[in-house]
Order: sequence, then C-alpha cells, then structure tokens
Amino acid sequence: MRHRRSDFPPGFLFAAATSSYQIEGHGFGGAGETHWDTFAATPGNVVRAEDGRVACDHYHRMDADLDLCAALGLDAYRFSTSWARVMPEGTGAANPKGLDFYDRLVDGCLDRGLKPMATLYHWELPSPLADRGGWRNADMPDWFADFTATVMGRIGDRVFSAAPINEPWCVSWLSHFEGHHAPGMRDIRAAARAMHHVLVAHGRAIEVMRGLGMGNLGAVCNFERAFPADDSEGARVAAARYDAIYNRFFLGGLFHRRYPDLVLEGLEPYLPRGWQDDFDTIAAPLDWLGLNYYTCKRIGADDGPWPSYAYRKGPLPKTQVDWEIHPEGLHHFLTMARDEYTGDLPLLVTESGMALAHDGNDDARIAYVDAHLGEALRAIRDGVPLAGFTYWSLLDNYEWSLGYEKRFGLVHVDFETQERTPKASYHALAEALRA
Ligand code: FCB
Repeated sequence: MRHRRSDFPPGFLFAAATSSYQIEGHGFGGAGETHWDTFAATPGNVVRAEDGRVACDHYHRMDADLDLCAALGLDAYRFSTSWARVMPEGTGAANPKGLDFYDRLVDGCLDRGLKPMATLYHWELPSPLADRGGWRNADMPDWFADFTATVMGRIGDRVFSAAPINEPWCVSWLSHFEGHHAPGMRDIRAAARAMHHVLVAHGRAIEVMRGLGMGNLGAVCNFERAFPADDSEGARVAAARYDAIYNRFFLGGLFHRRYPDLVLEGLEPYLPRGWQDDFDTIAAPLDWLGLNYYTCKRIGADDGPWPSYAYRKGPLPKTQVDWEIHPEGLHHFLTMARDEYTGDLPLLVTESGMALAHDGNDDARIAYVDAHLGEALRAIRDGVPLAGFTYWSLLDNYEWSLGYEKRFGLVHVDFETQERTPKASYHALAEALRA
C-alpha cells in the first residue's frame, strides 16, 4: 500500500467493523428470533436461504477474533449489539447471557488496547416487534430507548463511542420500499413511516445515553454517489431525487431539522401525523458523524410513479457484489457533509470495503483500501475534520440477502470449519499501520 499511518494526523483512528447478526451466531446464548431469521426462511429472499444461526460463530470465538484485531495494529473495533440477543422478546426481561457477552466483548477490547466503538442496532429486529409492525410502529422509539438503557446501562461506562442505528437508509428505504432486506416490504407508506421513526428512535437513544452520562455519541449513515445515467433533463432530476432520498433525507433531519423538498414531494402524504414536531428529538446534538461509503449508481428517468427513477449499468470496474469502484465519491461525501451539514463536527469513515471472491489473490482489495485511504487523506488536506477510517469488514461474514459467498473480510473464514486465515490485505494493512 502507498498510504501509511504516518501520512495521517496524530491520533487518527484505524478500525475494522463487524455487526452482530453477521458474525455472532444467533442460534447461541439465548438470543431471540429476529426478522432476518424469518426473512431468510422465506423462499426467494436470501441466496440459498442462508441465515445467521451460526454465521462466524463469533459468540464462541470472540477472543480469537479480538486477537486478530490487535495483531493487525488497529486502534479501535466497531461492533454492534443485537437487540434480540439482549432482549429476546424485544421488550421486557433482558437475557443475562446476552449482556454478559457484550460486557466481555468491551473488556476484551480494552484489555487489548482497542477502543470499543458500539452501534446499538445493525438490523436484527426481534420478531415480536416485527409482529407489531416493526419500524412502521410509532412505539418503536420508546422500545428502542428501553433497549438502549438496558445495553448501555451495562457497557456504556466503558465504550469509547456509541451510535444508535447503522444506516437509516437501509433500515427504512431498502427494507420497506425496495424490499431487498428484512422485512422485505415494498410499500411507500411503510417506507415513509420507517424513515421518520428510525430518526426519532435515534434521537431517543441519544437522550438516553446522555442521561447515562455518556459522551462521544454519533450517527452512522450510508452514502451512494448518484450520477445521471445520460445527458437528459429527466436523468438529472432522477439522480437529484435519488441523492435526496439516499444521502440527504437523514442528514437533513439530523442537522437541518427538516427533510429535503425533493423527498417530501413523494413521501409527505405518508409521514406519520405530527412529524414536524419531532425535530427537537431527532436533531439532538451529536459529537461526530460516521459515513459508510462503498459505491456510486447511475440513475435514469423512469415513467413509473414517484420516485420515477431506474438503475442503469455503470462503466467502472466492479466488486464481487457488482458495485462500481469509485473512490473519489468518498472525498465527495466527506466534503459535502462538512460543507452542507456538519461544519466543524468530527467525521469518521465508519465503513469502507470491498467484496472479492476468494481465489488466493487479494490485490484488488489492497488497491481498494489504498485508494480510499488516499481519498480520506485528500479530504483531510482539504480541511475536513476526519478522525478515523474503518474497514468493512474484519471477517468474511453473512452478507444479508447475498448469503455467505460475498467476501468482504480482511480475514478469510472457512464456514465449514470456522478456521480464520488472514488475507494479503490484512498483512498489507498491518504493515501500513506499523510503519
Ligand atoms: C453495509 C452494511 C454492512 C455490510 C456492508 C457490505 O451497508 O452496513 O452490514 O452489509 O454494507
């Protein structure tokens, strides 16, 4: 790799990320059923109907996995806490084994000199809450506040940082409008309500954590560069609409106390009554914003109903999941966030990474990381207060509806034997961090 730790400002944090359902194994330790278990059990939703029952068996291999982080020379480890593991029914009694697990995880990080960066929710909604409408239900923020109090009451005194919800766009739009993720809905009213409730839940969790005396609290949003697929006015408008739904709706709520007009034109009729009164909660002050960035999309006009856009194929080289590789987009969003939403607030890259088939050659992943580190550095030189960079993911894992075959890990996982083998990218990053 061309880039090294010494190129970055002192104190810049290098991390790797994982998430609970993707690695832990939800068949273990008294975790409750989640909407991902039933989504996966429904034919046609997930490749080979694979689920997270065993995943990387991280529940039993946590120490070895944290050793891999430490040996890589990371400063921090970004993980998430499973609602269904901690509160199997979604509300009410906590599962002591679940709380003990996260307690050991946090101490395991600290023992190894790794800063624990917690995300409360990375998508495994307890089934009993899904039965009550999940993110469509206006009670979700209250239930989420209780979950937050339960988890952070146990580990909040030791985590380095915390964010409520990973990628509000995926939780709401991808899962309730496009139907690609659990609960697999395709319904505009469901999507609008989920988009708003996710932000209210975020704000309630921030309130709870402040009340516990916690600091270093942020939000983690994902971003995708939207290019008009052709020169037409229709494509320009379609791409702007895509950008507003994906990249600006959540930042608008969090930092401007309003939603973009380009989104309200389609969703306003479906937002829950009184939505305008929730921005005191949604826009609670934060200590940082985390950006997850992977790719760009080509957006064309479409004759159908709002949002009247369609995906088109792009020309750039693609990863194993067919995502175009466009590192400049990272610089674009770091400067866009700073200029239009966050100002002096510290930013973190909370996810960046690529899926690559395992054939023994990991060069493309090394180049991907290097190029994205380069764009992060360029943003720093342009004055962006960027505080850290996180690779997704430490381990090959359960890539949601794509199952286990898409490999994002720095560490190869043999899902038959659970053997871990660091890849060339792991060694290259370790070398860059040592220098
Ligand atoms: C992000 C998710 C993460 C993983 C990567 C590839 O959107 O946060 O769980 O699926 O994409």
